Amino acid sequence: MTDTLPGAAIPNPLDEAAITAAVEDAIAAISAASSLEELKAVRLTHTGEKSPLSLANRVIGGLAKEHKAAAGKLMGSSRGRVNKALAARTEVLEAENDARILVEETVDVTSAPRRRRAGARHPLSTLQDRVSDIFVGMGWEIAEGPEVESEWFNFDALNFKPDHPAREMQDTFFVEPPEAHLLMRTHTSPVQVRSMLEREVPIYVLCPGKVFRTDELDATHTPVFHQFEGLAIDKNLSMADLRGTLEHFARQMFGDEASIRLRPNYFPFTEPSAELDIWHPGAKGGPRWIEWGGCGMVNPNVLRAAGIDPDIYSGFAFGMGIERTLMFRNEVGDMRDMIEGDVRFSEHFGMEI
Ligand code: PHE
Repeated sequence: MTDTLPGAAIPNPLDEAAITAAVEDAIAAISAASSLEELKAVRLTHTGEKSPLSLANRVIGGLAKEHKAAAGKLMGSSRGRVNKALAARTEVLEAENDARILVEETVDVTSAPRRRRAGARHPLSTLQDRVSDIFVGMGWEIAEGPEVESEWFNFDALNFKPDHPAREMQDTFFVEPPEAHLLMRTHTSPVQVRSMLEREVPIYVLCPGKVFRTDELDATHTPVFHQFEGLAIDKNLSMADLRGTLEHFARQMFGDEASIRLRPNYFPFTEPSAELDIWHPGAKGGPRWIEWGGCGMVNPNVLRAAGIDPDIYSGFAFGMGIERTLMFRNEVGDMRDMIEGDVRFSEHFGMEI
């Protein structure tokens, strides 16, 4: 088209057909533009300095006088049509753009806020923490040990004879292969032995944790449960220290009217050994004695296995189940409720129990 519109001073009138074609071209491109970005490019091509219409416009100055007015009018109306089309299309595309933004960025002020439900700590965890806090308050330390334990720590070092019935497959989960002598610990007592080997005497430790026994799951049994084990090793410790410690602990847990009683019992790792009962003042159906756990003076054989001289040091130990404590302390009738993981069970205990 520029060919028909030579740039220098040419005395002929402008080529009206070519100008009209350039206008039609521009209008077609304008209406084909589907976004404001595209329209910007179209505007540059059809109205920019190098566009056919701008180039034609520049020719006017060099035309013969008698043609100038007509040429000016032609160019004026041509550029007017293009600018009008541009303005109209801009308006349409801007309106479309605004409408799209309104949809894309809609905020539904009536919709419910997305609030993450706060979980609840499991009552077994909060109870375990509470027990730990009571002992830390007496200056004891917390000790931990592995759940997959060697048979030696779980049984031998604790003075279980090789033929002790607790070692049998029907009570204990052994870990393959048998020659590795590994098992899932059946109680927290192996942490006693670990603590004695790892720490310097005097030792005052509380060992809470998971234990495993081959029980069927029912209202009062579960194959995985929790215990806490207490161990004190010092000079001149006696049964009176054990009693005093447990009585203080019982009162912290169950109130000032709580008390304890010890009944003779047998454990391979304590001598003498006792069954511990608690007088539970707030028991459902009225105050009564409840069986709580085992305890005793650490057997000299156990002290020896852990490298402690029983002629200089003595110790006491005790162990209780956390599930069982939660059951009678908070009137949970069925142990299965504690392991189903339904947050509604945990929630009514609150964050502290
Ligand atoms: N380990 C014993 C049990 O699991 C409890 C216990 C611990 C008894 C410490 C005496 C001393 O039954």
